[in-house]
Amino acid sequence: MLKDNFLLELTKQYETPFYIYNGNVIEYKYKQLQNAFANCSNFQVNYAMKALSSIAILKLMHQLGSCVDTVSIHEVKLAFLAGFNADEIFFTPNGTPFHEIKEAANLGVNITLDNIIQIEQYAKLNVGNSIAIRINPNIKAGGNKKITVAKKKSKFGLSISKVDKLHKLIKECGLQIHGFHIHLGSDILSIDSFKNSANVLFSIAKQFKNLKFINFGGGFKVKYKSDDDFININEIGLQLTNAFNDFKVSYNNEHLKLIIEPGKFLVSNSGLFLTEVTTIKDRNIFINSGFNHLIRPMYYDAYHHIRNISNTKISTKKYHIVGYICEQDFFGKSRTLNKPHVGDIICIENAGAYSFTMASNYNSRLRPMELLHYNEETKIIRKKECFKDLVQNQIF
Ligand SMILES: Cc1ncc(COP(=O)(O)O)c(C=O)c1O
Repeated sequence: MLKDNFLLELTKQYETPFYIYNGNVIEYKYKQLQNAFANCSNFQVNYAMKALSSIAILKLMHQLGSCVDTVSIHEVKLAFLAGFNADEIFFTPNGTPFHEIKEAANLGVNITLDNIIQIEQYAKLNVGNSIAIRINPNIKAGGNKKITVAKKKSKFGLSISKVDKLHKLIKECGLQIHGFHIHLGSDILSIDSFKNSANVLFSIAKQFKNLKFINFGGGFKVKYKSDDDFININEIGLQLTNAFNDFKVSYNNEHLKLIIEPGKFLVSNSGLFLTEVTTIKDRNIFINSGFNHLIRPMYYDAYHHIRNISNTKISTKKYHIVGYICEQDFFGKSRTLNKPHVGDIICIENAGAYSFTMASNYNSRLRPMELLHYNEETKIIRKKECFKDLVQNQIF
């Protein structure tokens, strides 16, 4: 944990708002995953870079030994820039224009497809690479509707009912399938959901020879407040590993790999977003930010813990912490906050995942700076945008 005094010192040095990530927390979380799956002889983490895709973070992930999950050709290119090799990059598009898939195939990255039309298009490319398939297991799991993505009518994954068609197709076009993948959603607490999805994958995987991996996706729920539930990663590691090891014996392939694909688990708790009180009206505490910088509370109704780190005097009074955007952008409603004054530093927690990567220029606001603190050193890893960035692509 970065200490409040340290954070306050940083706000004297750098103008707020800015994000700060603690690389040692990321490292700790990565090691937690390794420990949880220690009984799996062939285990791999594909960091879902949509959560936080700044190159310095990607480099850290690579250094820790992670591979990377990407969903757009630009994420693929960022991963290359960060030093990942093609075989460490996994591209899992959903409805992505085919030219991106073609480009990724030509770059030699691992490709996972989830619909028959694009599998057919891929076969016609004749690039020789084998592919993996994302399956829709029809399992309801996830913190809210927007991040529950594996139900029957979801847009993700190839329906189980299409597996016969898949058999026919690969026979006709001589395509090789090297893996199966499932991603259920985000903020998942239930270990049973993962076990059920593993069983779906095993029942399909056993029909295909020469698989290299089975990917159980990400979605592990993290803690957002002190009394919050969070996934028991050791338990899930143990149970998935046991199920996987049993499957491996019946599948008779010692080299089969177990992959997981977490985003939030690795980076959410590592990040803080530091802002400043600009004005106060009744119970509304305005800060120099809005949903253009951190949209999760407004978009997902997500809880992010918020603290006034300038005032250490404990108070029980409740306030709304609001943004400057021309809509009702509440970072937190009726929150207990130490009495705020204009200029106080307000710290929003869990700003590591889906915060900067979901930021925008709405209301012609600039995206903030990002800092990385790692092994006692704090470095700027992305400069704050400037006005020029807003206009540089516009034709007057
Ligand atoms: C395909 C895929 N894998 C992994 C993830 C990571 O999910 P989380 O950040 O909840 O671990 C996502 C998130 O949307 C995803 O779409």
